[in-house]
Amino acid sequence: MTKISAAITGVGGFLPEYVLSNKELEKMVDTTDEWIHSRTGISERRILKGQGQGTSVMCIEAVKNLLAKKNLDPLDIDMIIVGTVTPDHVFPSTSNIVCDKVGAKNAWGFDLSAACSGFLFALATGAQFIESGKYKKVIVVGGDKMSSIVDYTDRSTCIIFGDGAGAVLLEPNNEGMGIQDFILRTDGSGIKHLFMKAGGSAYPPTHETIDSKEHYVYQEGQAVFKHAVKGMADVSAELLEKNHLTGKDIQWLVAHQANKRIIDATRDRIQLEPEKVLMNIERYGNTTAGTIPLLLWDYEKKLKKGDNIVIAAFGGGFTWGSIYLKWGYNS
Ligand code: UT7
Repeated sequence: MTKISAAITGVGGFLPEYVLSNKELEKMVDTTDEWIHSRTGISERRILKGQGQGTSVMCIEAVKNLLAKKNLDPLDIDMIIVGTVTPDHVFPSTSNIVCDKVGAKNAWGFDLSAACSGFLFALATGAQFIESGKYKKVIVVGGDKMSSIVDYTDRSTCIIFGDGAGAVLLEPNNEGMGIQDFILRTDGSGIKHLFMKAGGSAYPPTHETIDSKEHYVYQEGQAVFKHAVKGMADVSAELLEKNHLTGKDIQWLVAHQANKRIIDATRDRIQLEPEKVLMNIERYGNTTAGTIPLLLWDYEKKLKKGDNIVIAAFGGGFTWGSIYLKWGYNS
């Protein structure tokens, strides 16, 4: 019997209209366009404005875009998994809201919290439902409204993050396309370097937690940087070695867009030419779970059926990992 693999067969995306430029940030905090660009590679990011506009708004648009491109009936969707750390609510899940609003009445789903590795972990999870033969159409979404948890008086974090969402469709494939292998890791001791202290069950919201700004991203940038460089590069190299591949066999590196310097280090480690690295950090910043599907969305036309792709991410918690896949279609 031919093995069923889970192939990406479509991509959708959504970015809010409002552009927050480095120049505008210069007016908000003590920073410069030159510092931001040289230290991170970012020029601008998108921000979702408006009362009551949560992450689901962007995920819904990304899924609608995907459904329209694929000319799909939402009733045929089996499952929608949303990778996010900025859900609309503590409960219900953002996935519930997305399923409802896109008309996926036969689908179920859940949110997956793994910070910047959220899409990566969700993609590996969604693939299991296809590979097992249980489902035929699984949508995996990565989206975050980072502007809802960023302190716009803290120059070390507010310059990095942006809002956005992307979505992919996973379908069964019997030609060997799709997800080939993955390595996923977590290290909970990393919590101290990057987390949001309050708002969960350990520190529910109080006047004090708000006054002490504990509902915002706390990040020790240098510590995270060091762990990210090592984590993302190590796991990508390990995955290639496990699959008897070298950089020469890889057409594209799709790496989480946190900092251009972290991506360059991963590329160096697996010895890839710069033109094989998909980049959009300059325009969108770090959209957390959104970066990887947004890269696939932006570069869809360049990706060819059978291309070997390495996806890699590192995020808060710590969470990190790498997926090796063969692209499923020509667009
Ligand atoms: O996606 C999830 C995982 N997150 C990441 O991967 C982020 C990893 N970390 C980073 O990308 C970098 O650490 C940052 C971009 C956050 C910071 O860059 P850095 O090169 O590590 O800067 P730093 O924190 O070492 O700070 C260097 C200097 C400091 O000044 P002094 O102490 O040398 O005088 C900072 O106060 O730069 C200062 N600084 C800034 N200056 C202008 C920090 N932020 C800014 C700023 N503008 N926005």
